[in-house]
Amino acid sequence: MAPTRQSLRRHVTLRRTALLAALALPLLHADAGGAPAAAGPLPDPPADALAGVTPLIANVAGRHHVSLDGDWRAIVDPYENGYYNYRYEPSADGYFRNAKPQHPSDRIEYDFDTSEPLAVPGDWNSQRESLLFYEGTVWYKKSFRHSLRPGHRLFLHFGAANYFTRVWVNGEFVGDHEGGFTPFDFEITALVRVDNGRRDDNFVVVQVDNKRRREGVPTLNTDWWNYGGLTRSVRLVEVPEVFIQDYVVQLARGSQGEIAGWVRLQGARGPQPVLLRIREAGIERQLRTDETGLATFRFPARLTLWSPENPKLYEVTLAAGADSVRDDIGFRSIETRGTDILLNGRSIFLRGICLHEEAPYRGGRALTRQEAETLLGWAKELGSNFVRLAHYPHGEEMTRAADRMGLLVWSEVPVYWTIAWENPATLANARRQLAESIVRDRNRASVILWSLANETPVSEPRNTFLAELARTARDLDPTRLLTAALEHHYVDDDTVVIDDPLGRHLDVIGCNEYVGWYDGLPAKADGLEWKTAYDKPLVMSEFGACARQGLHGDAGARWTEEFQESFFEHQVRMLARIPFLRGTAPWILMDFRSPRRHLPGVQDFWNRKGLVSDQGVKKKAFHVMRRWYDELARRYAGAEPAAATAPASSPR
Ligand code: GCU
Repeated sequence: MAPTRQSLRRHVTLRRTALLAALALPLLHADAGGAPAAAGPLPDPPADALAGVTPLIANVAGRHHVSLDGDWRAIVDPYENGYYNYRYEPSADGYFRNAKPQHPSDRIEYDFDTSEPLAVPGDWNSQRESLLFYEGTVWYKKSFRHSLRPGHRLFLHFGAANYFTRVWVNGEFVGDHEGGFTPFDFEITALVRVDNGRRDDNFVVVQVDNKRRREGVPTLNTDWWNYGGLTRSVRLVEVPEVFIQDYVVQLARGSQGEIAGWVRLQGARGPQPVLLRIREAGIERQLRTDETGLATFRFPARLTLWSPENPKLYEVTLAAGADSVRDDIGFRSIETRGTDILLNGRSIFLRGICLHEEAPYRGGRALTRQEAETLLGWAKELGSNFVRLAHYPHGEEMTRAADRMGLLVWSEVPVYWTIAWENPATLANARRQLAESIVRDRNRASVILWSLANETPVSEPRNTFLAELARTARDLDPTRLLTAALEHHYVDDDTVVIDDPLGRHLDVIGCNEYVGWYDGLPAKADGLEWKTAYDKPLVMSEFGACARQGLHGDAGARWTEEFQESFFEHQVRMLARIPFLRGTAPWILMDFRSPRRHLPGVQDFWNRKGLVSDQGVKKKAFHVMRRWYDELARRYAGAEPAAATAPASSPR
């Protein structure tokens, strides 16, 4: 029985509270820290907050869906006149009604259908000169016809929308979402009018507001452009009453010869059969769910392991009743041992580069498969086997392209600089964004690191906040490594130390340094010695200097390509001396828009630390890093399989 409108509204509030509540509950199953599961036992059931309540549907692209992408009618509403009345109280007659005059004397002071369109997916700032700096509300409206098959349910799925989003279908409120970079969905089965041949009988209205908020995640201050809008695809996802909501099919933690995972069904009344098939590997497993709709599994498998050199993906299909979903999944193991990072049991150096989700050539939020492949193609040209996707979850196009192209991924939530650490709503928001990004990407072989934060100042409230995030990540995914971009300090003029207390909750220490740009001149790096409080691998997660592409001059002249080149020459020599260094990710692959960069003729609202300009032109420094990465690739190519010992237990 499809939920009624009342039950739907109840669902929405239930969904939000359950999400937050379940996130608060440490996983009952995993003992402290997701201790390594000895061979054999079934994997832990998913802790994710979605169990039992309206689901976040995983892998919508891999199942039956209808795209609502394209032009949407849009109304720019800086005073939120479409939501509030003149007393600034929510109005019952808001733009979500998509009202039309029924009589010539009617007074309707907006009309979606004669309003200028905006493209979806897309940010509004790069679509109209007049909206480049716009921060506020924009209303979107899309009409659609849909013939719902009997015995099916319908969900409205958003890849992401920046920043705070309210959604109505046919004038009925279906829900809201906070956070600009992760997926969310709502069930609209009870609201959709079945296609009766009359054109466009349904309409969805979305209010998107990208105003920055002190208690937000991110907060008021960032060094990237606050692109607003329906920035990723919008889809109608039709599923049978009983459907596959989410699943994990990966190698068992610390193993290279066993697959472990689970499948969760929604709508099932009692145990159900599920068929897991990996045809190319000759795998066909009949699974059976329990009362809650969950089936867990673990079994031996002979697989070609995924690696940057050989990014092998297998077609994986799951079928349950009338529902099925297919995915392309790679299988690899990732762990740390002392200061080593082991990929498939071999020590690896993460030859990386940072990038923002800025579109090459045109600027704006990167969107397409092509744009993702262009950016990752430049990273591969640099000799990279690793990318740090900064400072927020990039689109699924990016992580799936990394799977195909063989690039390891550092994925991060926008807990950036000085967040409102003591605000419980801010913590719940950060945890939800983390959960949504993990639910989306936990079947991506490329993703090896969940990063909890970037350059956050050490304090007790901050440490407590981030320790909770670490717990959430471990509960949701005990198979991947945790990291964060920490800061460092000097113990004397020549010695730098990394001893941020957050480090004890992490598997891999990330550290940002700008020795030679914000901190002295490039040669300062020559005499520096780095120390760490942790017997853990270090990834230098940022280091860089600005250069306007094509601006040439003396190596001592800032903003020139020669200065940036010299900066990297000094950096490479310093980095090569750090014994516990196992990865680097220079800041940054490509110049990107930033509201904090004002130098005329050089920056003009662009951060120019790219090794490549926004038009794809390589700067001199690109080749300094390329040469070093070639050398590192040769050195690590011969890495022997590490002696088999139980993988280190991950810190809590
Ligand atoms: C910081 C920060 C980046 C920023 C960079 C810069 O470390 O993490 O987001 O863009 O430095 O100053 O260029």
